[in-house]
Amino acid sequence: HPIPVITIDGPTASGKGTVSHLVAQQLGFHYLDSGALYRLTALSALRKGVALGDEHALAKLARALHCSFAGEDVFLGQENVAAAIRAEEVGNTASKIAALPAVRQALFGLQLDFHKAPGLVADGRDMGSVIFPHAPLKVFLTASVEARAERRYKQLIGKGFPANMDDLLKDLRERDERDTNRKVAPLKPAEGAYVLDTSAMNAQQAVEQVLGWYAGLK
Ligand code: C5P
Repeated sequence: HPIPVITIDGPTASGKGTVSHLVAQQLGFHYLDSGALYRLTALSALRKGVALGDEHALAKLARALHCSFAGEDVFLGQENVAAAIRAEEVGNTASKIAALPAVRQALFGLQLDFHKAPGLVADGRDMGSVIFPHAPLKVFLTASVEARAERRYKQLIGKGFPANMDDLLKDLRERDERDTNRKVAPLKPAEGAYVLDTSAMNAQQAVEQVLGWYAGLK
């Protein structure tokens, strides 16, 4: 049997991160937060002052990314940047550089490296469509922009970041627009994906649905 992969794609703040993490935990699978790779590249670019129009330099940064993951911690070199990569500025920059084909290409192999026994839950925008097109279970998690803004608001405040509801709504709409309309790997349900709208669901209900679909595969 090939090593199983569950792909969970969806827009910003759809609850993918929480749901993917819990599903991975329940099944004892590895977890790939592919958004973190784009965020790490963005953080690195912001710190080094690399121009966001310089595709070649950004791809070089992405290829040279020295990152590692341990539970909730995310390391860039020796530095724990788990909190830093969650800042809105970093997310917005990530969404801009993620539209560049050379950057996506540079992060391709790194994402495949997470595919190890006993299995993987891969969270992102193009996990089911581009990176793991043969995944036996693909999920597209979504929620209304209002529900997502509210979640993001609570998340930011909880982590001690300043947050403003109107700004968040505006940012989410802009980011959705950019992620949905870009030419490479646009955000859309992969072929064969189950679509799950979590606007009126809590994380545990979404997790149960995904686990139910997974159990139904065999
Ligand atoms: O999921 P997260 O919000 O952390 O991702 C940050 C940005 O990285 C997204 O807005 C998106 O533009 C980009 N991304 C992507 N493909 C992925 C994961 C994230 O383009 N697989």
